[in-house]
Amino acid sequence: MGKKDLVIRVAGEGGEGVISTGDFIAAACARAGQEVYTIKTFPAEIKGGYAMYQVRTSLDPLFNQGDTFDILCAFNGEAYQINRHLLLPGTAFVYDYPEGGFEPEIPPGVHAYPVPMSKTAKELKSYRSKNMVALGALSGLFNINEETLLNVIHDKFQSKGSENLNFNLEAFKKGQALVKDVAKTDPWRIADPVPPKDVLIISGNDAVGLGAILGGLRFYSAYPITPATEIAKFVAVHLPKVAGVLIQAEDEIASISQVLGASYAGKRSMTATSGPGLALMSEMLGMASMSETPALVVDVQRGGPATGMPTKHEQSDLFLAIHGSHGDAPRIVMAVEDVNDCIHMTVEALNLAEHYQCPVILLSDGSLAFSTQTVPAPKPDRIKIIDRKRWDGTGEYQRYGMTEDGISPMVDPGTPGGMHVATGLEHGPTGAPNYSPPNHAAMHRKRFGKLNTVVDFVAPTQIDGDGDADVGIIAWGSTIGVVREAVIRLRQEGVKVKGFYPKLMWPMPVAQYEAFARTCGKILVPEVNFQGQLAHFIRAETNITPISLTICGGIPFTPIQIMNKVKEML
Ligand code: COA
Repeated sequence: MGKKDLVIRVAGEGGEGVISTGDFIAAACARAGQEVYTIKTFPAEIKGGYAMYQVRTSLDPLFNQGDTFDILCAFNGEAYQINRHLLLPGTAFVYDYPEGGFEPEIPPGVHAYPVPMSKTAKELKSYRSKNMVALGALSGLFNINEETLLNVIHDKFQSKGSENLNFNLEAFKKGQALVKDVAKTDPWRIADPVPPKDVLIISGNDAVGLGAILGGLRFYSAYPITPATEIAKFVAVHLPKVAGVLIQAEDEIASISQVLGASYAGKRSMTATSGPGLALMSEMLGMASMSETPALVVDVQRGGPATGMPTKHEQSDLFLAIHGSHGDAPRIVMAVEDVNDCIHMTVEALNLAEHYQCPVILLSDGSLAFSTQTVPAPKPDRIKIIDRKRWDGTGEYQRYGMTEDGISPMVDPGTPGGMHVATGLEHGPTGAPNYSPPNHAAMHRKRFGKLNTVVDFVAPTQIDGDGDADVGIIAWGSTIGVVREAVIRLRQEGVKVKGFYPKLMWPMPVAQYEAFARTCGKILVPEVNFQGQLAHFIRAETNITPISLTICGGIPFTPIQIMNKVKEML
């Protein structure tokens, strides 16, 4: 792939403004016409603990956060200690010195730039602005566009008052001045601005919120949980503009119950949560399956189980999403690859819920939740909204009447002639309880059978590569972006490799999996969970015997990890 990109990692203590610094760099680069892909990790505590923000920029499309950084900016000794093994020859190292409280050993070949961040902030009598001194230095050293940086700093701090804005601008300028005469020895430089494209720079969570609004959402209820809360924050600002309603419920059981109630009343409805919340919702998901009520649940996966690693990335809710229920409870499960998917697959998931009258679980994850990426600005007039099948008012109304496609017409409560029994009990065509064995079996066939067409309703699984390959890689969720790059780089090295990237996780597109596997020697399934959850489903549902590659350290794969595994398999 050549080295056309640049990766800057800023690290320090939670509360020191690491996250703002990374946000500023990302937004400034995007406004200067660069593609941007970011990843951040921070502690569960409000203050203290290790916080890290990595920005990858390029003029070419980016699929992931990259293998490692080119530039490290360390605000404290812990940030240096955690990252020192990645200070490889050629990397640039900017650090707080002499009052940073640590004396780093500079490895051979590393370009070191000590910058008095704390000292300068103290001299300016605004310790809060240490991060702005660092930002000024980074801008001066690596050509981060000054004009766009100043714009984003204004945007952020203006709302906090002119005093706040002014001391930060002063600190920024001071940081620039500190490195003005420094002899630059490293090769890293962000490309000069190019005309900006028609893009948004947006986080995965905000993108889900945007997709929901574009997808016709009218009711949202959720209970706050990391890393899903920002979806509610976005929706809370924008849903009232389309006369929608948001409720912060008392817990996740209440939120899914309200979603089902609003959906029953005729509104496109959703909630968003993370693993523990999804677990709490499982009873009402059964209710949604049984009552055939459209409902979207976005699950932003995090490290589990239990409180687990709430701010860390993991892809470990696939078992729960697909089978987390009592009884035989059909649902559709999808997984997003990137921030662009967070917009468009939320629209699609709402459509699927309405069309198939069932719960849809859309899986995002901790790395995407907080990742900001440049994405094509969505075109609202090109967004297709699919409404539920509604009763046309003729004949006797049967809420669960048998139809060719298994989907029965719905009515809004109060529709004349549309009275029916609505209950979680097993029922006959009118909704009246019916426990007869043939009826229970027939209704199961209806509820599961209607999902047989989902695989044709959604776009076919993307395949990267033609012909036969020695290794085929099946990836899901945000791991897809890592595999996309690994496949490109492996091919450049002459390795015969292909990729298969399912977004529809359940019902599984079994024929597509098997057709892909027939063109590959071996199949590799990398995923960020301990048990190899997708690999398990592949073994159970298809004739493929994959090799599972799992990691679960709270961070995503890197392309080089995938490449090394493929080479090992060969
Ligand atoms: N001048 C003035 N204010 C500044 C500043 C500066 N130079 N630099 C940063 N700030 C402000 C930021 O604007 C932000 O305030 P805001 O939220 O009102 O915008 C605040 O200081 C924190 O700075 P930020 O850069 O966003 O974060 P940080 O790198 O200091 O890290 C967090 C702190 C955000 C990671 C941490 O506090 C946090 O929230 N952790 C997660 C907690 C959590 O979710 N737990 C889950 C439990 S289940």
